Formats: sequence, C-alpha cells, structure tokens
Amino acid sequence: MSDLSVSVAERPELQALWHRRSFLELDARARAFCVLDEGTGSEYCGPFDRIESPWLEPQGLVPQADDGVVVVKGLLAGEPCVVIGVEGAFQGGSIGEVSGAKATCALQLAARDARAGRPISAVLLLETGGVRLQEGTLGLNAVAEILSALLELRSMRPVIGVAAGPLGSYGGMSIVAGLCTRMVLTREGRLGFNGAQVIESEAGVAEFDSSDRALIWSVNGGAQRYATGLADALVLDDVPAVRRAVITAVAAGVPEHHRSEELGVLAARLSAGDGGQARFSLTGLGIPPAPGPGQGPLAASHPGAAQQRGAQS
Ligand code: COA
Repeated sequence: MSDLSVSVAERPELQALWHRRSFLELDARARAFCVLDEGTGSEYCGPFDRIESPWLEPQGLVPQADDGVVVVKGLLAGEPCVVIGVEGAFQGGSIGEVSGAKATCALQLAARDARAGRPISAVLLLETGGVRLQEGTLGLNAVAEILSALLELRSMRPVIGVAAGPLGSYGGMSIVAGLCTRMVLTREGRLGFNGAQVIESEAGVAEFDSSDRALIWSVNGGAQRYATGLADALVLDDVPAVRRAVITAVAAGVPEHHRSEELGVLAARLSAGDGGQARFSLTGLGIPPAPGPGQGPLAASHPGAAQQRGAQS
C-alpha cells in the first residue's frame, strides 16, 4: 500500500489521472457553471420560473421545468460570457419550442449587447438529438431561430460549441455546431447529422449498424471529427481541460472566415480523387483507428460494417 502511494506521488501522469474531474458526467447546469469563472455565474429562466413545454403532457410525457436548456451568464477569464447548456438526460437533449426560445433569446441578447459596445461571447454545451420529434415543426422553427441568432452574434463575438458526450450533437443542432466559431470535442463526444438508428432504419443495417459502437465512433466520434477538421480542439474529459479549451477558443477571437464559409476546403475534401466519396485517414495524426471487423468487443461482424470501416481508412 505504501509502495503504491510513493509511486503515485512520483508520477505526474498518475497524479493528473487521480485529480481528473469528468465533465461529461455533469448535468447541463453543473457544466455551465463550471465552464465560467468560479462564483460568477447567474442562471436566467431557471427551473423555478417554470417555463416548460406545453406540448409534452398531452402526449403522455412529463415536462421539465427548464425544458432541458440552461442559460447561465457570468465571466469567462474575466470577460462577460453566456453559456447555453443542453441537458441530454431530458428527452435526449432535443430542442422544442420553449428550450429553443431560451437559447435564441440568450444569443439575441448577447448580440444586442455586443452591438451596443458591451462585448459578450457565447458557449453552447451541446448534448442533443436535435429537433424534438414530439414538437415537429415548432422544433424545426426553434432550431432555425437559434441558427439566425448565432449568425448575428458570431460576426461580432466568438460563439464556441462543445460536444462532450455521451449523446454528442445530432440533427438540426449539428447545423448549429457547424456554424459555431470554433468547436471543442472530447474523444467520447460525437458529432453527426442523422443518428445511427435513423440511418439504419432508413437505409438498412448494411448501410450503418446502429449497434456497432466502434463503427459509430469511427465515423461520428470526437477523434475522427477533430482529425477531419470539423473541430478545433480535442480535449480530455476533464473540467479544467474543457474550460481551458473554451477560454483559448474565445481568446482567438472572430476569424476572418468561419469554417462554414470555407466552401472550397469542404468541397475539396468531398472530391479527393475518389469519385466524390469522402476519404479520411487518421494515420499519421497519432489517433488510433477504430478496431477492424471482429476486433472490438462491441463490433458486429457483417459486410456493411466492414465496408464502412474500409471507407474510413
Ligand atoms: N427528439 C426526441 N427524443 C429524442 C431525440 C429527438 N430528436 N433524440 C433522442 N431522443 C430520445 C430517445 O428517444 C431516447 O429516449 P428514451 O430514453 O425515452 O428511449 C433518448 O433520447 C436517448 O436516445 P437513444 O437513442 O436511446 O441514445 P443513443 O445514445 O443511442 O443515441 C442519438 C443518441 C442522439 C444519436 C439518437 O437518439 C438519435 O439518432 N436521435 C435522432 C437524431 C436525429 O437524426 N435527429 C433528427 C432530428 S433534427
């Protein structure tokens, strides 16, 4: 026992592991507060304001008093910042009329302040399955309004997206992620448009096997998305590491061209001499590829999964 404590004390990497504090195990509210400077955050439209979705109860679903979106304003490295956190544990972090309006309002007010000479940045903590299916068009409209407010703010101040996992960012909210000034991911995070089950049910298991977690992470996972240039930082699942990455991303300011405006770069990636099929390689980036067919403990072995992996390497 005493030998073990001596060896831990002498090894900084073990010390770091010992003191690590998981970001993705926190709920949206705790995440939002811990990104900001300690003691500076105040929540707006919190659960005691009881602004909840009117559309869930008639469908036999229990609403939540904050509708799954948390808005906290405070300081980030001493500068004003508003954090919008999506709660993945409520209705899959889906965005409905009320949660969408909260996020939109926060971004619009930040843009109003920035225009009036009171600069404030925004951070979106994305843990979301996109548009709330139970709210249909209202959810689609809510996401469109978030996009519009984000575009307004990002021309003046950085809007930073974080997808830490375990849900990640999917559906319409990934368009939001794509428009963010910068994106921060963890290896556990995911970034995709259609969810694996959606692809499987629309196109069949040979196209995408939603039970094959290794396959999903080799396509949508944080390491892959970072390696293919869809994110700007890949960080450890650790509160100080995520906070540092967000501070750095905000400090880098507003770029001349946002990623979403670099159409040439994106088009070139999609036509890299292979008939329009995207071909990305993780080799040389220090990121180990996903295990091959039958190698991973959770990998299902079927021809579709093998083809997908082949296309990734
Ligand atoms: N609307 C409503 N509920 C949603 C949702 C959405 N857009 N996305 C996820 N959920 C719910 C699921 O129904 C599930 O609810 P349950 O626990 O009551 O069964 C819960 O969130 C968790 O989702 P689950 O699919 O079990 O988790 P997962 O980790 O396997 O996958 C996603 C997460 C986000 C990849 C997957 O839920 C998904 O593909 N969602 C749809 C994404 C999409 O294509 N959206 C298009 C709309 S823009």
